[in-house]
Amino acid sequence: MAKAKTAYACTECGGRSSKWQGQCPHCAAWNTLVETLAVAPPTRFAAVAGGTAPEIRPLASVATRSEPRGPTGIEEFDRVLGGGLVPGAVILLGGDPGIGKSTLLLQAMAAIGAARRALYVTGEESLEQTAIRAQRLGLINAPVELLAEVQLEAIVAAIRTRRPEAVVIDSIQTVYTEALESAPGSVAQVRECAAQLTRLAKQSAITVILVGHVTKEGAIAGPRVLEHIVDTVLYFEGDPHSSFRLVRAIKNRFGAANELGVFAMTERGLKGVANPSALFLSHHAEAVPGSCILATMEGSRPLLVEVQALVDAAQSGLAKRLAVGLDPQRLALLLAVLHRHGGVETGAFDVFVNAVGGVRVGEPAADLAVLGSVYSSFKNIALMEKSLVFGEVGLAGEIRPVQRGQERLREAAKLGFRRAIIPTGNRPKQPIDGLDIVPVARIEQALEVWRGPARA
Ligand code: TYD
Ligand code: MG
Repeated sequence: MAKAKTAYACTECGGRSSKWQGQCPHCAAWNTLVETLAVAPPTRFAAVAGGTAPEIRPLASVATRSEPRGPTGIEEFDRVLGGGLVPGAVILLGGDPGIGKSTLLLQAMAAIGAARRALYVTGEESLEQTAIRAQRLGLINAPVELLAEVQLEAIVAAIRTRRPEAVVIDSIQTVYTEALESAPGSVAQVRECAAQLTRLAKQSAITVILVGHVTKEGAIAGPRVLEHIVDTVLYFEGDPHSSFRLVRAIKNRFGAANELGVFAMTERGLKGVANPSALFLSHHAEAVPGSCILATMEGSRPLLVEVQALVDAAQSGLAKRLAVGLDPQRLALLLAVLHRHGGVETGAFDVFVNAVGGVRVGEPAADLAVLGSVYSSFKNIALMEKSLVFGEVGLAGEIRPVQRGQERLREAAKLGFRRAIIPTGNRPKQPIDGLDIVPVARIEQALEVWRGPARA
């Protein structure tokens, strides 16, 4: 096959050069030139752009389809997807190796295959390996079509002839196009292959799910660019040493972002956990210092997470600060607030904080829990049992209300919590059965409560 001519394009400014150079001649950025097609095929973005001649139409005249969604039959997966698979949508599923991407998608394709045609393209494992996995999952007779192929043109041809409704590409990093000389997995290849698959998806109303590997830095290998091309970005997270796996929607054009699906990895694949709210609590026999329970929102669902802290005399001149599952920069900021407004000086101490169970909590509502656990460890006092907190802490020492306080409180009450220390602005209008609400407006008040005689 005749090679299409290639050129190099800058990932920063888009400028083109005929040969590779270390520095972009247009914007002077370093190491940004990647191989690309010299002449883009005229139809490359046609499906996105519409007809050949530019056609301007009044917004109101554009007929909208209400996107019919095909549920995958896996409830937790449908939840992160926003109800199911949308025809023509492109989904990127990222995550560390071995976390369960292939397992989840094989299960999903098997469930979809029962009603519609589903194709699973494997570039990493042989057909036999995939069959062995299917056997383990009890899906050996599932109506899924398999294809072991890594060449883009062959994959596209197979999709065009078989016309499946859903296709999994496992993984996008193994796919390459003949048109480019770069190695599979390079930014240029991944971007070009994803763009072509996206075009195919939009043209033929096929749902395409791309599996993407995450590099050590946490970005999907090379192509963060992919996040912009696709409609939905899902990431697998979770502590590889525990059996729980979370699938989080980072971006979703067809549903709520930040929605979370919770699974447990079992001997027979991933099983949805329908009631995960108490999953991230560790069960101490009695209250221990350095532990504070946070009521957080994950997508539309309240979740109770134990935040742990250890404050210990610094072993070297430079005190360490480490946050696992929480924002490290925010920790530094909170320690400064604790010092300035709470009079608690941690400068000579190492401070470690951790969200139990490998969950990642990004929302500022975790602030008060971080301070609670740090204070509790620092003073070596256990906070009251069965109590929880949430609230954002401001630089002036004020405690700001957070979204959906009611839902957090109701979930906690359901799980048997008895006391909640929350921002004054989140005080519920009606009392909540069994829950003693302690509203606080400033960090000093929260410290007062933690240190107070109410501790049982
Ligand atoms: P896999 O789906 O291959 O991960 P990825 O595609 O993200 O790299 O997950 C493999 C891991 O899951 C592996 O360590 C074995 C484990 N596993 C189970 O515990 N139970 C199962 O039924 C299957 C299929 C895998
Ligand atoms: Mg895999």
